[in-house]
This record gives sequence, structure tokens and C-alpha cells, in this order.
Amino acid sequence: MRMYDIIMKKRNGGELSREEIDFFVEGYTRGEIPDYQASALMMAVYFQKMTERETVALTMAMAESGDRLDLTGIKGVKVDKHSTGGVGDKTSLALAPMVASCGVPVAKMSGRGLGHTGGTIDKLESFPGFGTALTTERFMENVNRIGIAIMGQTADLAPADKKLYALRDVTATVDNMSLIASSIMSKKLAAGADAIVLDVKTGSGAFMKREEDARALAEEMVKIGNSAGRKTLAVISDMDQPLGRTVGNALEVREAIDTLMDRGPEDFTRLCLTLGSRMLMAGGRASEPEEAEELLREALKSGRALKKLAELVEAQGGDSRAVYEPDRLPAAKILLPVPAPRDGYISRIQCDEVGICSLVLGGGRQTKDSRIDLSVGLVLCRKVGDPVKAGEPLAMIHANEEGKAREARSRYLAACAIGDGPCACAPLIKAVIGA
Ligand code: URA
Repeated sequence: MRMYDIIMKKRNGGELSREEIDFFVEGYTRGEIPDYQASALMMAVYFQKMTERETVALTMAMAESGDRLDLTGIKGVKVDKHSTGGVGDKTSLALAPMVASCGVPVAKMSGRGLGHTGGTIDKLESFPGFGTALTTERFMENVNRIGIAIMGQTADLAPADKKLYALRDVTATVDNMSLIASSIMSKKLAAGADAIVLDVKTGSGAFMKREEDARALAEEMVKIGNSAGRKTLAVISDMDQPLGRTVGNALEVREAIDTLMDRGPEDFTRLCLTLGSRMLMAGGRASEPEEAEELLREALKSGRALKKLAELVEAQGGDSRAVYEPDRLPAAKILLPVPAPRDGYISRIQCDEVGICSLVLGGGRQTKDSRIDLSVGLVLCRKVGDPVKAGEPLAMIHANEEGKAREARSRYLAACAIGDGPCACAPLIKAVIGA
């Protein structure tokens, strides 16, 4: 088999066989196929697209390119959750303890922030001492003992995707549905859960800006998961404005704690209940969404879900006192309000720009190796549809440097639009695919 022939077949619109896809993935992972041939193939895929059979084959080949977690040592149906990424998306921080406190084991591998979007692993490190580099044995032991563990992705999980993703990032071949679906699902399949609940974001802060693209991606990923024998479903949710009211690592942890104390923002709580009820159903704990939601509400009201977060923090070496005393979390020195320039109603908050505000403050990475400031970020005082008077704060900037605070303030102002009359807010939950 020759890589040249594989590129030409795809360039001419042919369908690649499983053997051809395996040849490419294995050769590229081993360093035998050079980046220029892999780039050419990615560009051919970008223009010619992939059939469903090819997408499944690519997913499986990448999932099998490195370590695969064997979670069979964990009792019960293991349910994983994955978000395609957003701004203020602290969902796993509240959702994982909620679900685990209802008796469904959560064995979760999470990532760090990427571009303007945040990552669960960075957020969890706001708890002083919290460790995310667990051995597989400790990961499994924790799930068996307390029902929950969250670790960072191991270096050798789906290494083909890691290499290919970095290549796509610099060759303008990221935004192809089959390539995104296979990239996400290869990691999920290698991480070993029995069931997968996907949160596919759409809107100005999401990867998929248009709802129809988010729907197509969700359908593709659900098909891949189910054909690999994992019960998979996807919730399509709004990311046209930040989720909840906080953006920034420790600030988001505080909001997740508030939510676990049953006093979180309405949109964030709703998303956790929707995803959580699907996870409980996938885990066999409930048969209807209403029944599952009742269990989750009870876990919030009784304090069981909050206690589960404290157990998670404790088990991974963090200071669990911060769960009950959030003032122990990192806090920024400077608080700078963003005053509204006029009376009116918030008609738009350009979501990716808000993510960039947090990045500018130091809350995200500018390069792969940058250190992040866990304390900085923004607290939104007004969301889309809210009335505001001139001079009232649209948001509070939490910063440690005056210059960065001012830059974030002007960016935030530019990201907000104020209209004359009330406007409707887009629905948070747009669809559930594969239920
Ligand atoms: N996230 C991934 O893991 N892969 C993609 O291709 C896009 C988003």
C-alpha cells in the first residue's frame, strides 16, 4: 500500500477502506508517514468529505493508536460526559458530583483550556493541592471507593489524534465534521466508559457557530458511539452567551459550588439537570427524565452533591475546606466594573470575545506552555435580555494587573450590544439527539 495512492483516491472522491485508513493512522503515529502527506490527505478529506463508514474507521483507528483504559474493574455502568467546549462552561465541576452522588460512577478524563475556551482540569487546580495526574490504578480505586474521579488525559491516549489535531490546527483543516467527530470520539472510546453523554455547543462561543452544524456533528458522534457499542446521546445547548455568570477558573469553581448548594444561576442549573438526568438514565438509575431530575434535585437540596465534590477534592489531594469556605480559593486583587454606556436592554454578548477577555487577563494560555492565573476572570452582572441603566455594571473584571484589567474592560464593552427594547434570549437546550 502507498500513501500516494490513498491521497489520490480521496482527492478524486473515492471511499477509503478500513485497511487504507489503518495504514495511514498507524504509519503517521509511528512517524513513517510525513506531515506533508498527512496534510494533503486532510485537505482532500476537507473538500471531498468522508462517508459514515470512513468516519467510523478513522475513529476506531485513532482510538486504537495508543493506550485504552480498561474500566471493567469499576462496578456499575460507567458514564462519561464531554462538552465540545465553551465560555464559562464549568458544567463538569457540578455535574460529575451530582451524578456520582446519585449512585452512577463517574470516571472522567478531562482536558485543559483550548483557545478562548476553558478546561475542567485547569479549573479543578484552583483547589490548592488538587492533583489531576493520577495513575490508572488510583483513578479506578477512587471511583470504586467514592464513585468519582477526574484525571487529565494521559499522554498515550489516542496519540494519532493528538498528532493529527496539531497538524489540522496549522493547515486550516480543523472544521470538517468527520474530522471533529472522529477526533472527539476516538478519545472518548479510548477512555473506556460504557455510556457517553455529549454536550454539543452552538453559538458565538462555540466551535459550531450554526445550529444545523452542531446538529450534524451531534448526529455523527452519536452514530459513532453507538456503533462502537457505547450508549451515546447528545444534548445541543446554547453557547451564544457565556454559561452562568462567571468566566475564569476559580470564579467558575465558586459558581459550581453555589450550584451544588442549590443557589446557582438558572441556565447553568438547568443544563446540569438536563445532562445529569440523561447520565442517570444511561447508568440505569432512572427510566424517565423527570424521575432522574427529581433524584438530582434531591442531591442538591440535601447537600449530598456538595459533599461528593468535597470527597473528590480530598481524594485527589486538594484542600476540601475550600468547598465549604470558597474564600480559600485563589482571588484576584483588582475589581474593575464595566459600566453600561447607555440605558436599554442587553441584546447580545459576543461569547468568544468574553473568553478572550479572560485570556487577556491571564486566565487562559497564549501558548501551549504558558502558566495561567487561576484567580482572574469576569463576573457578568447582566445577561442577554436584562435591562440596564447607564453607569450600572455590565460585568466585574477580576484582575491582577491594571493594564490587563483596562484592556479586558474595553474588549468587554465592545462585545456587548445594548438595544432599546426587550429581546428574547435563545433557548438554552435546543435538542436531544439519540435519546
Ligand atoms: N475538539 C477535539 O477534541 N477535536 C476536534 O477536532 C475539535 C474539538
